[in-house]
Amino acid sequence: MRIDIITVLPELLKSPFEASILKRAIDAGLVEIHFHNLRDYTTDNHKTIDDYQFGGGAGMVMMIEPIDKCISDLQSQRDYDEVIYMTPDGETLNQSISNQISLKENIIILCGHYKGVDQRVRDQFITREISIGDYVLSGGELGAAVLCDAVIRLIPGVLGDETSALTDSFQDNLLAPPIYTRPREYKGWKVPELLFSGNFPKIEKWREDQAYERTKARRPDLLDD
Ligand code: ADE
Repeated sequence: MRIDIITVLPELLKSPFEASILKRAIDAGLVEIHFHNLRDYTTDNHKTIDDYQFGGGAGMVMMIEPIDKCISDLQSQRDYDEVIYMTPDGETLNQSISNQISLKENIIILCGHYKGVDQRVRDQFITREISIGDYVLSGGELGAAVLCDAVIRLIPGVLGDETSALTDSFQDNLLAPPIYTRPREYKGWKVPELLFSGNFPKIEKWREDQAYERTKARRPDLLDD
């Protein structure tokens, strides 16, 4: 998978890709991340990427021309399955959307700033608009990092144990069950005995029941789907 990220703040976005699972995925050649600084696609000395809103109103708007130049340049080099715009008014990211995107070959992610982008960018170039939650961030970069993390870990081969993504919270619209590791007892607080029984069908059933109960208590909305 190849991800091209268009941003005015590439430095804000780099560190999540320099550690742990994302770094390993990149080093293993399972994903390529390319950053594009929108200011490199400006033509004036000040490298202007935003301007005042037509019709008045507070806040700057990202202009169409540098974004057009950048996206068109990328699209002239290869086909893209999606051009995603990170915005608080997009569809809210969830595990199902992450699964869909993880199956794509090439995607572009455009990070918004200020008030957002000129509507014509959205109309002409964007195929999908994604929010990471009902709150407003200073820019789309942190949202893009969240999206990339959620997507990249689902690419086959990225997680060492192929089954571990399948048992994540949300993967079957259920939250994950409780998990334990050593020591077996700590300050008198014990791990459920059943987990030492060696009865794996029974353990599996227990985990399913726990996942269901936890989901019912914390996120009953997930059970409605
Ligand atoms: N940009 C600003 N707020 C955002 C959000 N909640 N999700 C994605 N991109 C954003």
